[in-house]
Amino acid sequence: MIFMLMILLYLSIIIFFHIKYPEIRWDWRKIDVSKMKFPKTFFWGTATASHQVEGDCKNNNWYAWENNFDKNGEPRIKDNQVAGKACDHWNKYHEDIELIKNLGVTHYRLSLEWSKIEPIQGEFNDDALNHYQNVISDLLNNNITPFVTLHHFTNPIWFDELGGFEKEENIKYFIDFSKKVFNQYSDKVRNWCTINEPEVYSVMGYFAGVFPPGKKDIKLTAIVHKNLLIAHTMVYKELKSMPNGDVSQIGIVKNVMQFDPSRRWHILDWIACRLTDIVYNEMSLSFLKTGKIKINIPFLLKLSYYNKDAPEATDFFGLNYYSHVHLKFQFNTREFFINTYPENDIITDMPYTIYPEGLFRALKRVKEIGKPIIITENGIADYKDDKRGLFIKRYIYAMNQAMLKSVNVLGYFYWSLMDNFEWAEGYDMKFGLYEVDFKSQERTLRKGSQEFIKIVNESD
Ligand code: GAL
Repeated sequence: MIFMLMILLYLSIIIFFHIKYPEIRWDWRKIDVSKMKFPKTFFWGTATASHQVEGDCKNNNWYAWENNFDKNGEPRIKDNQVAGKACDHWNKYHEDIELIKNLGVTHYRLSLEWSKIEPIQGEFNDDALNHYQNVISDLLNNNITPFVTLHHFTNPIWFDELGGFEKEENIKYFIDFSKKVFNQYSDKVRNWCTINEPEVYSVMGYFAGVFPPGKKDIKLTAIVHKNLLIAHTMVYKELKSMPNGDVSQIGIVKNVMQFDPSRRWHILDWIACRLTDIVYNEMSLSFLKTGKIKINIPFLLKLSYYNKDAPEATDFFGLNYYSHVHLKFQFNTREFFINTYPENDIITDMPYTIYPEGLFRALKRVKEIGKPIIITENGIADYKDDKRGLFIKRYIYAMNQAMLKSVNVLGYFYWSLMDNFEWAEGYDMKFGLYEVDFKSQERTLRKGSQEFIKIVNESD
């Protein structure tokens, strides 16, 4: 009798998991991706970040990291690569703006290199400030609207030496920098992203240990994540109270990744997904919606925080979306779960699978925050360029489907304008609409990018 009851219980658990299984799949053979409609106000753009494209960023945490080895003498970046001259965008911005224009897009998301602007704490470099002034003016002269990110993974070395975002009291330095540049450019720049991907910065740098400072400490991961969220809220408040604050749109940028159980019948896969989601997604989504962070994972992590200003402290939600992962639990104390790939999925170079339905899911989830959404990054690493076109069509279609279901998406930035330094992966990941020959610095439009140009130009 007890045996029968146990079987019944197990069967009902399996049925429950089956019904609750979060992954959705569309039948792409029956979908006509050309059937899309965008509001007149919808905007298109492309994105980069300073350290990845500018070149000569020699005064930040990534420069130090790239020139450093782990305790086994292994290089930090794949094949010992360094960002170096990158795309030399610092010098070639004028012709790059021409390339942006040629795509037909109207917006460009770029980041300011804090370490160039404030190389020594409290001392601002006029050449660097003038440089960005010129870039901004050039963009505006070409009718391209700048979207400026204040923090995209890199810190000046002096800031890291003070403990970076590990310490809440260091946020004031980031506020000072933000106020300085806002004061400088806000008469021309009306769209600002405070912090790019707090969860990626904290998880990769403090949990996985593959970004600087290479630590592996779950408690510190959560603290850094929390401090970045606090920093966003404080910067938002400060900038809003400055001249031009009221006419500026200021938002945070978050990466959403879904963690789906590899085996839908396996409770431990579900638990692995749930715990990962709490730290990676739920923490910041809950903070932005309610101001609350409440994490209680027995023996692992306990964190409770409330900030009454948070729900009001963002004008838009910047969503970076790439893909989802399938987690499979394993009995291994060094690595409790691994990532698996469903047999028929198309895998990109990164390696992520092409899963446009995930963008649809992410948009529906993020809608709960109650703010307009901008896709601040979405793109594919595709060296052979034989999947880029498909990726672009399907992801933009998925975004459009969410919009038809009343998700308010204002615009879309493709990542990236051109191939660039892809952090721990070095130059191997080819995300660019334009291919870059890093020896000659020549840029060539990729074939697959035509799909983007087509959508952009047909949607007016
Ligand atoms: C994001 C990041 C970008 C870019 C992209 C592609 O997480 O913000 O800088 O590297 O991933 O992987």
